[in-house]
Amino acid sequence: MSDWTLDYSGFDAHEEGLREALCTLGNGYFATRGANEEAEAGDIHYPGTYLAGGYNRLKTQIAGHEIENEDLVNMPNWLSLTFRPEEGEWFNLMAVDILEYHQTLNLNTGVLQRDMRFRDRQGRETILVSQRLVHMQNPHLAAIEWRLKPENWSGRITVRSALDGRVINAGVTRYRELASTHLTPLSAEPLNEDTIRLVVETNQSHLRVAQAARTQAYIDEHRVNAECQLVQEPGYIAQELSFDVTQGQEVRIEKVVAMHTSRDRAISEPGLAISHSVAQAGPFAELSASHAQVWEHLWYRCDLVLEGGGRSQKILRLHIFHLLQTVSPHVVDLDVGVPARGLHGEAYRGHIFWDELFIFPFLNFRIPEITRALLRYRYRRLGEARRLAREAGYRGAMYPWQSGSSGREESQMLHLNPKSGRWIADHSHLQRHVNAAIAFNVWRYYEVTEDCEFLSYYGAELLVEIARFWASCASWNASRKRYDICGVMGPDEFHDRYPWATEPGLDNNAYTNLMVAWVLRRANDALERIGAERRQELCETLAVTDQEVAMWEEISHKLFVPFHEGVISQFEGYERLEEFEWKRYQSQYGDIHRLDRLLEAEGDTANRYKASKQADALMLFYLFSADELSDLFQQLGYTFTLELIPRTIEYYQQRTSHGSTLSRIVESWVLARSDRPRSLTLLNEALESDIADVQGGTTQEGIHLGAMAGTVDLVQRGETGLVVRDGVLRFDPCLPDPLPGLHLRLRYHGRWIEITMKGNRMTLSVSEGGAKSVRIAVRDQIHSFDAGQRLEFHCQPGGTDWRIINRSESTDSS
Ligand code: BGC
Repeated sequence: MSDWTLDYSGFDAHEEGLREALCTLGNGYFATRGANEEAEAGDIHYPGTYLAGGYNRLKTQIAGHEIENEDLVNMPNWLSLTFRPEEGEWFNLMAVDILEYHQTLNLNTGVLQRDMRFRDRQGRETILVSQRLVHMQNPHLAAIEWRLKPENWSGRITVRSALDGRVINAGVTRYRELASTHLTPLSAEPLNEDTIRLVVETNQSHLRVAQAARTQAYIDEHRVNAECQLVQEPGYIAQELSFDVTQGQEVRIEKVVAMHTSRDRAISEPGLAISHSVAQAGPFAELSASHAQVWEHLWYRCDLVLEGGGRSQKILRLHIFHLLQTVSPHVVDLDVGVPARGLHGEAYRGHIFWDELFIFPFLNFRIPEITRALLRYRYRRLGEARRLAREAGYRGAMYPWQSGSSGREESQMLHLNPKSGRWIADHSHLQRHVNAAIAFNVWRYYEVTEDCEFLSYYGAELLVEIARFWASCASWNASRKRYDICGVMGPDEFHDRYPWATEPGLDNNAYTNLMVAWVLRRANDALERIGAERRQELCETLAVTDQEVAMWEEISHKLFVPFHEGVISQFEGYERLEEFEWKRYQSQYGDIHRLDRLLEAEGDTANRYKASKQADALMLFYLFSADELSDLFQQLGYTFTLELIPRTIEYYQQRTSHGSTLSRIVESWVLARSDRPRSLTLLNEALESDIADVQGGTTQEGIHLGAMAGTVDLVQRGETGLVVRDGVLRFDPCLPDPLPGLHLRLRYHGRWIEITMKGNRMTLSVSEGGAKSVRIAVRDQIHSFDAGQRLEFHCQPGGTDWRIINRSESTDSS
């Protein structure tokens, strides 16, 4: 066990789904679950392969409705590799005695390895070591290496290596009643004696996908002269290599795979492209070396070292690893968003939600080019967002709650409650707050990078159109002389309507309204920052008038924020809901994370109760510092006292089931300063979300990327008190117990800043290069840092007064 590996001993059929998700390998272009090469899809194994942005739509008749869903398509299974001794059965873990079995995901090198020893029904004992990678340097390549050694037998074996395009989307049990055949086979043929090729096309989006596999066997590094046969079916092609093996002699089998699609750039067509890619790809050892080198570079930028961190350190690395596999630097050249469940499974159909809010803080400070690309995914869908707004009777751009290929609303109209077996109307598209999140992400990206070009050409337009949307949502309430935003849902998905109302939607969700007040101001700020010329161009193109800008300003000062019992109300009228009997339900059901489903199955509804699935109002304290909130409340003309924060936290803490993995991240952060033990407990629970599948079966359907990135951000922000405000990178470390050691590198305004915290010391070094100095504050003291400088601070145990004890030129030039 090391901080760099995820290790499993023994094969456990029940755990396989979870292992497959956690051992997924990917490179941002595509990812493949950690299913065994020899396994067939079924109840135990699910060898899914997903292309970033590889969607397709299908219609299904369900509960008397025709519904259309867009899914991230399960692409042909390129893993397929198996063997059989002459007269024996194809290798199948369920049919042999497993003598030894270890599975290791190496996070450092991005290689998945299985070490196996087994005995078949005829008493043949075999050692098999399998290694696999999805190439991080060339995103079109993947490779498998098998080392097979007959321990007590000799004879002829047949190795079968296939490309299987007969796959459907069957990874989520709840979706099984929905149409799931997305691929049309086009061709399956040999390219030469050791290479096969498969071409398929999605049946609605017409995405053509081609795969090629080159399979070769070696003994003592000499190519084996195998007898070769082909097996061909529509959508399937396999190559069977037969040759002799000798007891004690290792045979090495290499399968090198290439994949291209009709969306790729710089190719003629995918079938031709894979032929070239696979022919040019080096052997496994060469691919493995170049792959490891890119991972080394990624880790140099992205690692976060927690000395003595043990299991937490390992999990943090696992989270960084999966984040980088989903949105690697390769997405910079793609038109893709960040799917909430990674490219690791089919839950939520690979859709893109507001989870970016939890993911971008990590990327902004490491590889902001990725954030920029992911924000451009939103920018390209501005036209569709404008259409959505117009059709709903609003102005500007209204982004969908769930987004896929085109940016239309992909939220389902009906969802299945597995507890009751009923299909229920789904109103989650009313979570308009996703629009505030996109605007927030634009601004935070800009603050960390100072990327003026992005702001001028994309960011400002996004902010303006989102501000315009919100302004058109706000309605004047003459009786209280405030603006309302009605008929929406907040992040808490347990509440989609008032129990006394017939129509879905809630009024004045506090989180939404405060975010809107903030966004309206940022739209103004963006117009000011981009310079007079560009401002004029943009305002003319978008027909933004001074009156409109003045209106945003007016609304940003007069939005309504509900309160009750001295706390922020999640939404207006929240106080009229009934208290939920947490203890009774807990003792009745045990796991009540998804009490909405339990209640619906009982004929009741979560809408009646003061019970939230996830942090909603508390999001405000997650996203804004106390100073920013104080400014925001002041801007709105509400009295803000610091006590409002702990009171509101305490109130909702007791009324949240954490039915979303995002929830613990938020709660851990908001308690970081006031209740460190509870905050750490929540952080530890959040760290366990996927590795221990705390929701009891959801991780096998895909990882929770927001929670994964959120934990890393929590550690980096929690320990250092990191925030960017007014062009200053601010640290406010609070170390009640001396920290064993935290080491990380952040990119800020184009510079790398190396941060080490140990005991009561904090060291900051700024990388060489660049003419401009950066402004960094520790507590409230602002320091101007020049390139190559290093500052060391010291603080009394438990104190907050950080003093400089050393200032020098840094020798580091990272
Ligand atoms: C949460 C949402 C989240 C979605 C995708 C849901 O369970 O309630 O906040 O965006 O999962 O992760």
